[in-house]
Amino acid sequence: MQTSNYVVRRASRDVVDALGKIVDLVFRPQLPPGQGMPKEFPHLFSADNAHNLYYVADENGPVSMVGVLPQKVVIQGITMNVASIGSVVTLPEYQGRHISSAILHRVMADFTAEGVPLMLVSGDRGLYRRIDCVPVGRMYRVTIGKAEAEKFRFDRGDSNLLKVTEVRAKERSSYAERLNRIYHAEPYRYRRTDAEMAILLDALWFQRDAYDQRLFVIEQGGEPVAYVTPYQPRASRSRLEVMEWAGSRTAVIASAAAILDAFGADEIRFPVHADDITMRTLVKTNGFRSEQTALQGTVRALSAAALIQSLEPLFVERFGTAAEVLQQGMSYRLSVAGRDLYADNAGELAIRLFNHDADNLGLPFVHTDDLNYI
Ligand SMILES: CC(C)(COP(=O)(O)OP(=O)(O)OC[C@H]1O[C@@H](n2cnc3c(N)ncnc32)[C@H](O)[C@@H]1OP(=O)(O)O)[C@@H](O)C(=O)NCCC(=O)NCCS
Repeated sequence: MQTSNYVVRRASRDVVDALGKIVDLVFRPQLPPGQGMPKEFPHLFSADNAHNLYYVADENGPVSMVGVLPQKVVIQGITMNVASIGSVVTLPEYQGRHISSAILHRVMADFTAEGVPLMLVSGDRGLYRRIDCVPVGRMYRVTIGKAEAEKFRFDRGDSNLLKVTEVRAKERSSYAERLNRIYHAEPYRYRRTDAEMAILLDALWFQRDAYDQRLFVIEQGGEPVAYVTPYQPRASRSRLEVMEWAGSRTAVIASAAAILDAFGADEIRFPVHADDITMRTLVKTNGFRSEQTALQGTVRALSAAALIQSLEPLFVERFGTAAEVLQQGMSYRLSVAGRDLYADNAGELAIRLFNHDADNLGLPFVHTDDLNYI
């Protein structure tokens, strides 16, 4: 069948449950349909976001979907609209017929027309590479082992100012407002209301069968100053992975020992943004293990003009002038401060802007991989 024979639709509220079911059939086959991904990503599968769930159906209902969550990201004080892409799925009997590709093209056309600058994709496979999605930027994954964590343990001896508390499941969402104040002070993040924070703290991330995910709050003088959301994959119980943390860098490091104790684990690994000078310095001076990686997933420019406009304050701050972009067919010429950079496609444009080597501009990128990630 030809791609053009498929009718790509945007969902209405009454289709959301059926979409949740096909996603679970493929991604969470061990769970009752509708009980997995929709509860892990309640913001994506909410009735309010129905219009951004794209799908193709046969006579029995949806057979393929692409989830889009319009979000706002913050990069050093600028706010940018992005289309986050996740829950991309085609039922096995329909796979390999270009249905996902057809839906993704429609998504790109719609959000480009709406003037959305960037698409963030939670995947890095041929399906996405063929539409010019690319990994960009860099981040670090830092590991603190048990012995190192002990050196920074604060819940013994002389210091009773810092206290680490594991928040019980029932109470997590009641921390939303206090913890969101800490999150809001982070320079690379998503825009997140208190209501959204409450939803994310109750998301199934924290209740997944194969993962034990918990929330720890670190208080100083009775006030929360940091929080950490580590999880323990059942497959590798000795290492904890932190999905999101925010707040005082020293408090986060100092909480590692208590968190490892709570799980009975040997090491804890957490993401560090490339431009997080304070945390990176602490990592370096304390000799913690650190691996450099690209950011999670892939990225593609949608509206190049909107992208350059959103980034204008960063251009002016760094180069003393705004930038211009000229699009010719699939190619781009980006001009800033007397320098011309060329990109053969929308993915390369993102690389020119956000990668750090000599041919590129090295603008800071958002840290995409936190509780908002789909
Ligand atoms: C990935 C997936 C969504 C692709 O959907 P699709 O409608 O088959 O995609 P298209 O036909 O438009 O694109 C070609 C893809 O089909 C797959 N494909 C190609 N020929 C195929 C065949 N004969 N039979 C089955 N799959 C085939 C390839 O895997 C190719 O993807 P890749 O290049 O990324 O590996 C689908 O295979 C799926 O649901 N997989 C399981 C869930 C998943 O991994 N989702 C992506 C998360 S990042």
